[in-house]
Amino acid sequence: MAVPNAFTAHLIAWQQVAGRHDLPWQKTRDPYRIWLSEIMLQQTQVTTVIPYYQRFLASFPDVQALAAASIDKVSEHWAGLGYYARARNLHRCAGQIVALHGGKFPESAEQLSELPGIGRSTAAAVAAFAFGQRAAILDGNVKRVLCRHFGIAGFPGAVAVHSKLWELAEELLPDSGIETYTQGLMDLGATLCTRSRPRCADCPVAGSCVARRDGRQGELPEARPRAAVPERTTSFALIVDGSRLLLQRRPPSGLWGGLLVPPEGDIDGILARLGLNAAQQQPLPPLKHAFTHFRLTLQPVLCRVAANPGIAEPGLEWVDLDKAAEAGVPAPIKKLIRLVASARD
Ligand code: ADE
Repeated sequence: MAVPNAFTAHLIAWQQVAGRHDLPWQKTRDPYRIWLSEIMLQQTQVTTVIPYYQRFLASFPDVQALAAASIDKVSEHWAGLGYYARARNLHRCAGQIVALHGGKFPESAEQLSELPGIGRSTAAAVAAFAFGQRAAILDGNVKRVLCRHFGIAGFPGAVAVHSKLWELAEELLPDSGIETYTQGLMDLGATLCTRSRPRCADCPVAGSCVARRDGRQGELPEARPRAAVPERTTSFALIVDGSRLLLQRRPPSGLWGGLLVPPEGDIDGILARLGLNAAQQQPLPPLKHAFTHFRLTLQPVLCRVAANPGIAEPGLEWVDLDKAAEAGVPAPIKKLIRLVASARD
C-alpha cells in the first residue's frame, strides 16, 4: 500500500495551489452556512447549488430564521434541487438545533451526526470546516479516490469494504490542516479523479496510485455486484399441421400480455387437452432469453399433426408458418418460429 502520510501531504500541498478557494461556503467558519452547503451538495453539483445557496441564505440568514420558517416556505426555496427529504430534514434539524442546543451547532462530528439529515460524512465535513475538528469524510467521490489510489477491491457499498474505507479515511487524516486536506479530497474527486476519464497527469498523488500503476482506473471502484437472477425453463408446443402453426393469445396482463405465443407447458398435457395426436414430437435446440428479472430457457418441441385438425379449445388460431414470425409474437418466439421453418425445410 502507498504510504498514507505522503498521500496526505501531497494532497494538502496541491489543494493550496490548485484546489478551489472561491466557493461561496468557503472563507466562513459559520457552521450554519457550512452545514447548508454540505446538505445541498450531497446529491447536487456545485454549479447547480450556488444560486440556490445564495437565495436560501438571503431568505433564511441563520438557523433561527430557518427554524421559524414554515416547511412550505423552505420547500419553495428547495424546489428544483431534488431529493426533497433533504429539505424536510434540514428544517427539522434547524428546529432541533434551536430547541435542543440553544441555537448553537454542536461542535463534534459525533453530536452533529445525531441530527436529522446529517450522516457520518456530512457531520465530519461540518466539524472540520466550521470547527477544525480532525474528522474523516467519506462521500461517493472520496470512496472513488481511495478505492483507486489504494487499489481497494470489492463494491464500496459492501459492509466489509465500507468499513475498510472508513478505517483508511481515518488513518489518512493529517495532524494539522484538516480544512485544507478535506477540501483537497473533495477537489481531487470532483475535478481530477472523476468517474470517467480521470486526469491522472495532473494528479498530485498519481505517483503512488495503484489504479494508475495497473491501468485499472476504469475498473475501480468496482460496480455493485449483479443480483443473481432466477432461471426458469419452460416448454413450448410448436404444433404444425403441414404449413400452419398453432398460436394462442396470452391474457392481457402478465408476461407477453396480449401477444400470440405457442401453447406453453407440458407437451403431452397440451396435446391431450387440445385433442390432438402428434405423429411425431421433435425437440428443437433450446433458446435462452434474458428478461429484466429472470432468465428463461425456452424448450421448443415440434409436434407434427394431421392437416386441419379440429381444436377442442377456444382462443387458438392457426397462422401460416411463413407469416407467423410477423404476426405479433414476442422476440424469442420469433426465433422459435424461424427454427420450425428451418426444421421443416
Ligand atoms: N461537495 C461536498 N462538499 C463540498 C464542498 N465543501 N466544496 C465543494 N464540493 C463539495
